[in-house]
Amino acid sequence: MKAIVLTQYGSPDDLELKDIETPTPNDDEVLVKVQATSVNDWDWCLVRGSPFYIRLLCGWRKPNIQIPGAEVAGRVTAVGPNVTQFQPEDAVYGDISECGFGGFAEYVCVPETALALMPERMAFTEAAAIPHAAMLAVQGLMDVGQLQPGQKLLINGAGGGVGTLGVQIARAIGVKDVTGVDRASKFALMRSVGFTHTIDYTQTDFTTGQERYDLILDTKTNRSPFKYLQVLNPGGTYVTVGGLTPRLFQVLLFEPMIRWFTQKTVRLVNLQPNKDLAYVNELFAAGQLKPAIDGPYHLSEVPRLIQYFGAGQHQGKVIITLNPHRTHP
Ligand SMILES: NC(=O)c1ccc[n+]([C@@H]2O[C@H](COP(=O)([O-])OP(=O)(O)OC[C@H]3O[C@@H](n4cnc5c(N)ncnc54)[C@H](OP(=O)(O)O)[C@@H]3O)[C@@H](O)[C@H]2O)c1
Repeated sequence: MKAIVLTQYGSPDDLELKDIETPTPNDDEVLVKVQATSVNDWDWCLVRGSPFYIRLLCGWRKPNIQIPGAEVAGRVTAVGPNVTQFQPEDAVYGDISECGFGGFAEYVCVPETALALMPERMAFTEAAAIPHAAMLAVQGLMDVGQLQPGQKLLINGAGGGVGTLGVQIARAIGVKDVTGVDRASKFALMRSVGFTHTIDYTQTDFTTGQERYDLILDTKTNRSPFKYLQVLNPGGTYVTVGGLTPRLFQVLLFEPMIRWFTQKTVRLVNLQPNKDLAYVNELFAAGQLKPAIDGPYHLSEVPRLIQYFGAGQHQGKVIITLNPHRTHP
């Protein structure tokens, strides 16, 4: 099979498109013929071996991950003897970052626990855009942020995967006032998916403005947590899904003190992959969730696309299709 192979940390240019052996599923795995996959922050970090915790997780000197790619959508072609939920021909999707990655390939073996059936009418290119970013958004907004109908929400880093899905999840909950912060070139897309207000972070620092929010969801934490408190309503919550590592440590460190002295909350989301796919399937079936897709592109373009993602030039989710003539089950 064809696969994008990682042999060393460095840059996306070090990745190679190679012919390698097709894997065989073990007892608890299914073999998925990948139809679509996507680029994530995981891939950008994995190919560079940075930040440092990537090397703690994936090998200090050399990556022990052979094929990057954290999200897949495709068709089951074989199942191990202990698999109970799936059978050949099922259309499935999931976040495979906790089971060895491998999405940038024609086939991948995945434990059945990391997959869900795709709902009817969901295209493979849509399915590959959903698991990782939608779980971060659902868990950030609902589980940790406890978002309620009628609240005022701001999403920082709004033009990427989490932001463009998060705003739709918020609106499905009954939130009408959603501000998105990103660069102005992404405003048209952001408005099309439901943001009611937009702020260009290259021109305006929202933490020094007059507006106040009940919940802030951040994909790009790059300030001290105390800056965000200034623009939270009394009792408000700041939730980060990612950003600069020292800033994330500050959120963890100061969380109890901030709660005690200000009655406001700062929290970091610890992603539980695939936990809420059934809920997301319901939103999709009800027409309340449609991923914003950048692409689809070809597998051979993955090195360029990871660079493009790392430079922040993408809008929504960067999608790769392995079958350009057939995007729908
Ligand atoms: N918590 C967990 O367990 C967990 C697990 C995996 C991943 N993550 C994290 O989850 C996040 C994924 O978010 P995503 O997929 O939505 O990322 P994304 O697609 O890269 O979107 C982020 C957006 O933020 C914009 N941006 C860059 N700098 C900004 C700034 N200073 N202020 C405002 N916006 C800015 C980017 O655009 P420009 O660059 O063009 O400006 C981009 O449009 C990442 O931070 C990742 O590390 C968390």
